Amino acid sequence: MPAKPLVLADVEIAVGPRVLLRRLNLTIGAGETHILFGPNGSGKSSLLSAIMGLPPYHVTRGEVRLGGERIDNLPVDARARLGLGMAFQRPPELDGVTITALARALRADAGLADAAAVLDLADFVRRDINVGFSGGEIKRWEILKLFLQRPQICLFDEPESGVDLEHIAAVGAAMERLLGRDGTGDQRRSALIITHTGFILDHVQAGMGHMLVNGEIICSGDPNRLFAHIKSHGYTLPPWASEPAAAASDERIAS
Ligand SMILES: Nc1ncnc2c1ncn2[C@@H]1O[C@H](COP(=O)(O)OP(=O)(O)OP(=O)(O)O)[C@@H](O)[C@H]1O
Ligand SMILES: [Mg+2]
Repeated sequence: MPAKPLVLADVEIAVGPRVLLRRLNLTIGAGETHILFGPNGSGKSSLLSAIMGLPPYHVTRGEVRLGGERIDNLPVDARARLGLGMAFQRPPELDGVTITALARALRADAGLADAAAVLDLADFVRRDINVGFSGGEIKRWEILKLFLQRPQICLFDEPESGVDLEHIAAVGAAMERLLGRDGTGDQRRSALIITHTGFILDHVQAGMGHMLVNGEIICSGDPNRLFAHIKSHGYTLPPWASEPAAAASDERIAS
């Protein structure tokens, strides 16, 4: 499957009557890695869920396109088949479904042992998914899941939160491998990564960062520079950052 750009054009996202995100313009080119920063409750997880097509999040304005094809009306399984995959912030327990069984269903059992070893999960493959896993084990399984699924565009929701310092390096190395940055993978994949701690920036090469505040992307720029700014000044607009292209939304405000 060839890599495809993911485009959000003037997107608004709501749950029922409540609008959570608005005026979102974002393009993740094929093979690019973008970082999403933002305070608690700013809408980061809701954005990833809406891109993935998870209820109850709906795109109520604008378009989400993958490789030029509009996907915001498609169900989650159709989006997964088109190449979207997500590592959850708080994934559910799957009682009765082992990692091995899911790998078989994904026709990925051949690569399971190798990928599980990279993430120090070799002893977990016969266990039910997330049942009794520690916080860090849950996070590592989410990365392993994407290894098995091999999506074109990987959405990572706080992949390093709760992961100890030694395993963060393993998670980072696994993500680089999954994204095709370490030279061993079959191809380059794209990613949108949410982080609070910024630890993952030490391990994953990212080209662009975005700051989400109150449901809007207030600026974009170099992710390391943005993170340094957030550490010193909080989630405020840095004087050097480019503000988002907002032509469409300006028209809307005026009308
Ligand atoms: N299903 C829902 N119904 C109602 N409100 C929701 C729903 N999902 C999210 N929200 C609200 O939308 C806002 C954004 O939530 P979201 O989980 O996207 O934040 P976040 O940026 O991921 O925060 P955190 O950093 O704490 O993970 C919050 O105020 C949250 O309570
Ligand atoms: Mg979240």
